Amino acid sequence: MSQLANISALRTDYRKAALDEASVGQHPIPFFEKWFLEACAAEVAEANAMTLATASKEGIPHARMVLLKGVENNGFTFFTNYDSNKGHDLQENPHAALVFYWKELERQVRIEGRIERLSDAASDEYFHSRPEGSRLGAWASPQSKIIPNRDVLEANYNKYQQQFAGHIPRPAHWGGFILLPSCIEFWQGRSNRMHDRVVFINESGAWKKHRLAP
Ligand SMILES: Cc1cc2nc3c(=O)[nH]c(=O)nc-3n(C[C@H](O)[C@H](O)[C@H](O)COP(=O)(O)O)c2cc1C
Repeated sequence: MSQLANISALRTDYRKAALDEASVGQHPIPFFEKWFLEACAAEVAEANAMTLATASKEGIPHARMVLLKGVENNGFTFFTNYDSNKGHDLQENPHAALVFYWKELERQVRIEGRIERLSDAASDEYFHSRPEGSRLGAWASPQSKIIPNRDVLEANYNKYQQQFAGHIPRPAHWGGFILLPSCIEFWQGRSNRMHDRVVFINESGAWKKHRLAP
């Protein structure tokens, strides 16, 4: 029998905390920042790791993890290769979603909105703050392309290391995006699957708050 036969019996009862409409305040960004700091304080591993869901213009969805690198101008920023699969999706269809799961706190945050590219200046600033190896990696990896083997990557890396010897410019195909949210949902696990969900929806620039059934 499959070792996964008991997968349906895996379940956790969530009991750590509660969430009510009053405690989240009137604006979702400060509340996100509060929860994010609490996740860091609780030593959630990679609290800034989030699932990024995109879709092609035909509506085919794709999801993968990326790292949140900032919350600024009321948006959520991350960095990647503009020529990657996600980069192509976002060029064709600027709508995307983010999901954080902070298991240690029994919390999920879902964010949906429109994506824009960060300015070259903002991408440059972050690129140059990265360790040398990561900057070379951005040159060496044709992200999402099929490659024959790992040697190709290593050879690329060595080539760019020699070529740039010290000053590594930002590749034009690498940079940041910002997701400008239209909807942010905070989920707190509760006992008996009677979870708390509070959603903020942006209506013509004003945030409206609602409780959702779990
Ligand atoms: C925890 C974690 C964090 C990641 N962070 C990033 C990131 O910030 N940027 C990025 O381009 N890829 C990141 N990746 C790799 C992506 O998940 C993905 O493999 C890659 O971006 C290619 O995705 P795509 O082919 O859909 O474009 C991360 C992966 C993991 C597991």
